[in-house]
Amino acid sequence: MFADRVLSGMRPTGSLHLGHYHGVLKNWVQMQHEFECLFFVADWHALTTHYDNPQIIEQSVWDMVIDWLAAGVDPAHATLFIQSKVPEHAELHLLLSMITPLGWLERMPTYKDQQEKLSGKDLSTYGFLGYPLLQSADILIYRATQVPVGEDQVPHIEFTREIARRFNHIYGKEIGFQEKAEAAIKKLGGKKSKLYVDLRTRYQEQGDDEALESAKALLDEQQNLSHGDRERLFGYLEGGGKMILSEPQAMLTAASKMPGLDGQKMSKSYNNTISLREDEAEVSKKIRTMPTDPARIRRTDVGDPDRCPVWQLHQVYSNEATKEWAKQGCTSAGIGCIECKQPVIAAVLEEQKPMRERAQLYLDDPSLVRNIIADGNEKARKLAQETMRDVREAMGLEYK
Ligand code: TRP
Ligand code: SF4
Repeated sequence: MFADRVLSGMRPTGSLHLGHYHGVLKNWVQMQHEFECLFFVADWHALTTHYDNPQIIEQSVWDMVIDWLAAGVDPAHATLFIQSKVPEHAELHLLLSMITPLGWLERMPTYKDQQEKLSGKDLSTYGFLGYPLLQSADILIYRATQVPVGEDQVPHIEFTREIARRFNHIYGKEIGFQEKAEAAIKKLGGKKSKLYVDLRTRYQEQGDDEALESAKALLDEQQNLSHGDRERLFGYLEGGGKMILSEPQAMLTAASKMPGLDGQKMSKSYNNTISLREDEAEVSKKIRTMPTDPARIRRTDVGDPDRCPVWQLHQVYSNEATKEWAKQGCTSAGIGCIECKQPVIAAVLEEQKPMRERAQLYLDDPSLVRNIIADGNEKARKLAQETMRDVREAMGLEYK
């Protein structure tokens, strides 16, 4: 349970575009080979802002899963599921709400930001205020160790860590904890017991973080500890009680620099996107009609690539030789803009080809997608139920 586990969610609020691919999905595809990965459709999170037009969520859920699969997310390597199909998330959200100070939520930077940004919507709701706490429940219920997110979401991960700490602090106490922890240390065996005690002392007396990390690594390696003893030993390292919820790390996804058709960042709200599985003819048309250096009016005018959005796409899609060709041709009026755009069009189509093919498989037989998700829901639910058992017990809700 303490080995690395990656969890991330995406809100189904519209179709995915190449910005999502370069910013997030490529990263997921790579991680699925390196870690245990859980990826889910955050449909409840979408409802916090789209409560007045849920139709868009319903449509987007399946399209989004197909986009993930098209991008190469592989159900043989990652568990894919839908948040609302694991109702334990809601139960944990509710239980965590008991110990969540209102101020922590009200002070969340995303709270005011989003309210201002989406000023057309009334977001002074209970659900929207609780958005970060629902996200904490998503993460903590799987005891995820790593959460890949963009920069804007880092405060939510930090908040999640604080919630986990607060929970462990309030509910992690156990009668006879000290004795049980001491007994668990003995079970590590001679050398390892001594090492554990030394590392713990170094951490507690000198604040030596490296010692803490080494001690955690030592525990990670122990295969024959019981679940309870393992939790106690983790908890005992940092002080107080038993660790019931574990603190996740944010795994920062490099901000997507994917430029859109107008040179601004690719984003649905700027209306400058190429969707992941956009029709081939449409891709060509969108790029052919992209604006270029506004000063290059006639074919005979020289251009400045630094003032041209097409040049930014060359940065993403072209090799050195092609970039050199474009730059040279542009600044000498040796090539026309349509010519300059050709290699970009070709590269985008090339990138999308395998995505279109994979997607077609699922479009032809939608039951494949339903089955992948049904499997994922079931797997996720098992994991979530394990955590909930511990949480309920810790909060005194395990009536016999
Ligand atoms: N809030 C995230 C976003 O807007 C989506 C999300 C919901 C999420 N729950 C999560 C991301 C849990 C990571 C982990 O992008
Ligand atoms: Fe832009 Fe290329 Fe035209 Fe130069 S030649 S303005 S880089 S499209």
